Amino acid sequence: MDDIRKRIESKLKERIEEYGKNVYPKLLDAMKYSLLAGGKRLRPLIVYNTGIELGISEEILINLGIAVEMIHTASLIHDDLPAIDDDDYRRGKPSCHRIFGEGMALVAGDGLILLSMKVLNDLEIEESTKLKLEMKLLESAGVNGMIGGEAEDIDMTGKYEKPDLERVLKMYERKTGALFSFSFSSPIICIGDEELENIMDEIGRKFGVAFQIYDDLKDLIGTFEEIGKTPRKDEVMDKPTVPRLVGVEKAREIANGIYEEAVELLKETGKFGKLVGFLRRVKEEIERR
Ligand code: IPE
Ligand code: IPE
Ligand code: MG
Ligand code: MG
Ligand code: MG
Repeated sequence: MDDIRKRIESKLKERIEEYGKNVYPKLLDAMKYSLLAGGKRLRPLIVYNTGIELGISEEILINLGIAVEMIHTASLIHDDLPAIDDDDYRRGKPSCHRIFGEGMALVAGDGLILLSMKVLNDLEIEESTKLKLEMKLLESAGVNGMIGGEAEDIDMTGKYEKPDLERVLKMYERKTGALFSFSFSSPIICIGDEELENIMDEIGRKFGVAFQIYDDLKDLIGTFEEIGKTPRKDEVMDKPTVPRLVGVEKAREIANGIYEEAVELLKETGKFGKLVGFLRRVKEEIERR
């Protein structure tokens, strides 16, 4: 594991212990179980790689990354519940509700979502910047972001009539793209450049859509060891996914095209050489697994 991922891991642990001091023990256990179960930590790594080239402090970047990772983990805990995707495994371990029960998994997710706001509120930065970051995370996670996208996904599941490709891609922009938008644009909010912030939001949406299609492809062709969750679950649950709509080859082509668009947009900014390198490595990693 590289150095920065190690620092993200240890800071996540440190923060959840610190905030968890007076929390009901079983609730804290459920939150920690999922939060510290591993995971690629892609969203915090993107925050870090975006912000470090802008000269933002590592402390701020890691905490921004932790905030988005808490919401992401909560989204996974809820996504795995029997009422949504009914998944028994996550990050190579039994999913949260399989260990703690559905009720505890629900509140563990809720707890992580709200805790992310406390992480942002405790940042040592100018109050007006902090407020903007909080609004951005609320919007990315909220009804026009991840939660909205999950709602559409739920509503398109198990339907006789299949949605069209455009509609599924729009749903992906929300359910997966929105949190990536926060990852790419939150460091820009710290330097106060609205034009660049909008470009980074666009990059995040594109990256997220491509990433979700790769995840769908892994569901179809990956093994449990590779993905840490039950393979071929999307078919069983009749999920609205791009490969199920257009086939594996076409889906891969669409994902590669959108991924390249995101990288091109990033290159055009002329500011993020290291981040471009990082995204290339992420893509290689996706192709290797
Ligand atoms: C899984 O995200 C859910 C999707 C948005 C496709 P990740 O693949 O980033 O999951 P972890 O964090 O590594 O477990
Ligand atoms: C989940 O998409 C995206 C979220 C917002 C949680 P999936 O349902 O495809 O994610 P996995 O495959 O369970 O990780
Ligand atoms: Mg899902
Ligand atoms: Mg799922
Ligand atoms: Mg999936």
